[in-house]
Amino acid sequence: MLKIQEINYLYCMKEQLLQTQLKQNQFTQNEILHLLQLGETDTHALLQHAATRRNEHIGEYIYLRGLIELSNQCAKDCLYCGIRNSNTQVRRYELSDEEVLQAASFAHQAHYASIAIQAGELSSPKFVKRITHLLEKIHQKTNNTLGVTLSLGEQTKETYRIWREAGALRYLLRIETSNEHLFQSLHPANQLHDFHTRLQCLEHLREVDFQVGTGIMIGLPGQKLQHLVEDLIFMKDLDIDMCGMGPFIEHQGTPLWKYRTHIPSKAERLQLTLKMIASLRLLMPNINIAATTALQAIIPNGRELALQAGANVLMPNITPQLHRNDYALYEGKPQVAKTHEIEDLMQGKTHYAGLPIAFGRQGNSAHYKARNER
Ligand code: 5AD
Repeated sequence: MLKIQEINYLYCMKEQLLQTQLKQNQFTQNEILHLLQLGETDTHALLQHAATRRNEHIGEYIYLRGLIELSNQCAKDCLYCGIRNSNTQVRRYELSDEEVLQAASFAHQAHYASIAIQAGELSSPKFVKRITHLLEKIHQKTNNTLGVTLSLGEQTKETYRIWREAGALRYLLRIETSNEHLFQSLHPANQLHDFHTRLQCLEHLREVDFQVGTGIMIGLPGQKLQHLVEDLIFMKDLDIDMCGMGPFIEHQGTPLWKYRTHIPSKAERLQLTLKMIASLRLLMPNINIAATTALQAIIPNGRELALQAGANVLMPNITPQLHRNDYALYEGKPQVAKTHEIEDLMQGKTHYAGLPIAFGRQGNSAHYKARNER
């Protein structure tokens, strides 16, 4: 048995080791694996440490993006996703331009300073034009003050360029998993779902000068810890500016539902997601990391926990109430009257998860800025 002094000594050594690596933000695969395997007490230290690193590098506050779920129509058939094309149980909707503009105005007036427009994946010329037009309208209506993130899936480089020129600043396109084999097991085997196309889209987004975000799901059927280690290295190598990652949540209307007993428990997925967020923060101290909604499907304060583990972006849902229930990517997605959240944030609330909210600031990626100044 180790004596308490020895435990303390070992702990200090580990801290020291961590500090040295942190200076270069470099870890070996084994070291990352070690972080993901930490026990309860050490995990607590890791999460705190990551929050401190965030505070040192990009400041101790969180940025808001008002989340607008534009449409749940989707051409794709991802085996995990509740709004996949072949799920006939979904009531499909599309917000009107007016509804989108109203939501954007709300975000503007409430000093969120940024919005994120998300939708199922469509790529018809009509859809591309509509988004371009909406971007122009939004900027007109808010005097070019609103920072816009798009999350509209795989598109051509030309489309990305057009949307960037129309004033969108950031684009989030999750790789879902950086392991090609695992990716294939999560998607139907056809041209619509191709790992290399996804990679190429991420390259194109960088080339047309978006702040590029990607992310993965955690706790997928067939996913090993080693995959997650590789995901972190993938994000570091890609030099991403932002990340949105969350736990996989099984959905009854999807083919992956049948594996629900073969995946880690929800409690484990939560812990693993928090460790992933903290580890990514240590690897990439100045990127934007979102506290994603899927965490909330596991535990009501899931996003707060993520913010305490190094995340710095919160995306309150500002989709018109009428359509909230239809954007069900996974089971238990918090859908019901989230008006409390909006009201709380508006009505003089200055903090969330103990962190001050950076009202009025777009919160663009410091990592992106630093890369462009090099
Ligand atoms: N569980 C968790 N996240 C999911 N997503 C889709 N389906 C699920 C699910 N069942 C995430 C994917 C996708 C984003 C729009 O939502 O990562 O990129």
